Parts: sequence; structure tokens; C-alpha cells
Amino acid sequence: MWVRMLVMLALVNEWCHCCLEEERIGLLEIKVWINDPNPNILSDWVDNKKDTDCCKWHGVKCDSTTKRVVELSLEDTKNDYWRYEDLYLNASLFLPFIELRSLNLTRVGLFCCFKNQGFEILSSKLRKLETLNLDFNQFNDSILLSLGQLSSLKSLNLADNWLTGSTSINGFEVLVSGLRKLEELDLSGNTLSDNILSFLHELSSLKILDLSYNNLTTISSGINGKVASPISNGLL
Ligand SMILES: *[C@@H]1O[C@H](CO)[C@@H](O)[C@H](O)[C@H]1NC(C)=O
Ligand SMILES: *[C@@H]1O[C@H](CO)[C@@H](O)[C@H](O)[C@H]1NC(C)=O
Ligand SMILES: *[C@@H]1O[C@H](CO)[C@@H](O)[C@H](O)[C@H]1NC(C)=O
Ligand SMILES: *[C@@H]1O[C@H](CO)[C@@H](O)[C@H](O)[C@H]1NC(C)=O
Repeated sequence: MWVRMLVMLALVNEWCHCCLEEERIGLLEIKVWINDPNPNILSDWVDNKKDTDCCKWHGVKCDSTTKRVVELSLEDTKNDYWRYEDLYLNASLFLPFIELRSLNLTRVGLFCCFKNQGFEILSSKLRKLETLNLDFNQFNDSILLSLGQLSSLKSLNLADNWLTGSTSINGFEVLVSGLRKLEELDLSGNTLSDNILSFLHELSSLKILDLSYNNLTTISSGINGKVASPISNGLL
């Protein structure tokens, strides 16, 4: 009977898709950061020794064999969209998640960045990151410099931020020279002007580009400047 129980315990352990301890701790650190202005957010991310499977937490998806986090979404973790408090991006919180393929920071209300805490610090660790959603935050042009080293990115969403393309046009230069694999780029809902277009030309893998709701004059087809313009379309 004892043997049988031992065998069963071994099997249960085998079946458990528990996440890695270092990633569980990493998620709890992210929760502390998000909870600073919003104590009630991510309430199912609990530090409970009996229930260590963070793969089941809201917004977390793990690989079924490696059990490492491959998708992480903090979407909408700002509970009051119109009363953002200053939440500065601290990208080092994402360092433990080395298998991450998708990071969703839509509507978190983030500003960029304290020194050495931008996305640049992730470039040598998160080599599989392909999708980054940063829409509906308060990122200005300085985020572009921070993103230019994430060379594995295929999809980047920067819609509805505070990009102007005028304060540091070099930001776009850095972005396009680093993101050679980029296939989708959403820059809609900013106040970008025509001067960014020459830089975007250089994104040779780009398939989908959304520049709608900006301050562009060159691309004036479409209604009220609402143009979702694929480069292949000859619009640029
Ligand atoms: C950013 O996150 C790292 C890793 O958790 C932490 O060591 C550091 O203190 C954080 N910085 C700030 C300003 O909160
Ligand atoms: C991630 O962000 C996008 C917007 O960029 C949103 O539409 C989508 O539902 C989010 N995905 C997840 C899994 O939360
Ligand atoms: C971007 O925002 C940060 C934080 O609010 C600020 O310190 C910085 O000067 C801004 N940079 C630009 C280029 O506007
Ligand atoms: C939009 O562009 C025009 C000229 O191209 C410029 O005068 C104006 O200041 C820009 N507006 C914003 C909000 O950037």
C-alpha cells in the first residue's frame, strides 16, 4: 500500500504543471509594483506555498513542457483609466522570464523610464520576445531608444501613446535599425509628423503599419487621415 501511494505521489508530481519558483517570485514582484497605486489588482496572484502553480494565474501562460512563462499580460491593470498615477516602467522586473514570447502591457498607464530600467536591459535575456503590446500608455519618444535593442520583435504596438517624433527623431532611427524582423507596427493615435516616414521605409520585413490618427500630411488618402497603410501597398 505504501508503495502504491508513493507511485501515486510521483505521478501527481509529474502531472503538475507548476511554474518555476524563480518565475513565481518574479511574478509576485511584478504584483508588488503594479499594486503600489492599485492594491486590488491581480488579486489571484497569491503567495501561497500550497498553490504554487503560477501558470494558472490570470494573464500568465506557460509552455507545457518547459513550464516556463511564455505569455504574460498585465493588460488593464490600471483600474481607473482617467486617474493615472505615475507608474514608471521598471523593465528589470521582466528579466526572469527568459522564454517569454509575448508581453502585453496594454493600458497599464506606464511612463518611460528611470535610468537603466527601460526595455534595453531585456535584450540580452529575452531573446524569444516576438510580441510587445504597449498601447494606451503614456510613453513619449524616449521609449523608442529603449526598444531598439529588442531585435527578436515581430510585432510592436505603440498605439495611443505620447509619441511626437519631433523631440528625439533619433529614437525612430534607433528603433528601425534595431528591429529588423519587425512585421507589424502600430503607431496610431500619437502626434507623429511626416518626418518619421523616411525612417519607417527602412523596416524591410514590415507587413502591417498603422499610422492612423496622427499628424501626417503625406498620407492623406482615407477619411480624415484614418489610414491603416501597409507599406507593400505603395502608400509609403
Ligand atoms: C526595479 O525592479 C528591480 C527588480 O525587481 C528592483 O531591484 C529595483 O529596485 C526596481 N526599481 C525601482 C525604482 O523600483
Ligand atoms: C493584449 O493586448 C491587445 C492590444 O494590444 C489586446 O487586444 C489583447 O486582447 C491582449 N491580449 C491578452 C491575451 O490579454
Ligand atoms: C519623456 O518622459 C519622461 C518622463 O516623464 C521625461 O523625463 C522625459 O524628459 C521625456 N522625454 C521626451 C523626449 O519628451
Ligand atoms: C502638426 O503638424 C503641423 C505641420 O506639419 C504643425 O504645425 C503642428 O504643430 C503639428 N501638431 C502637433 C500636435 O504636433
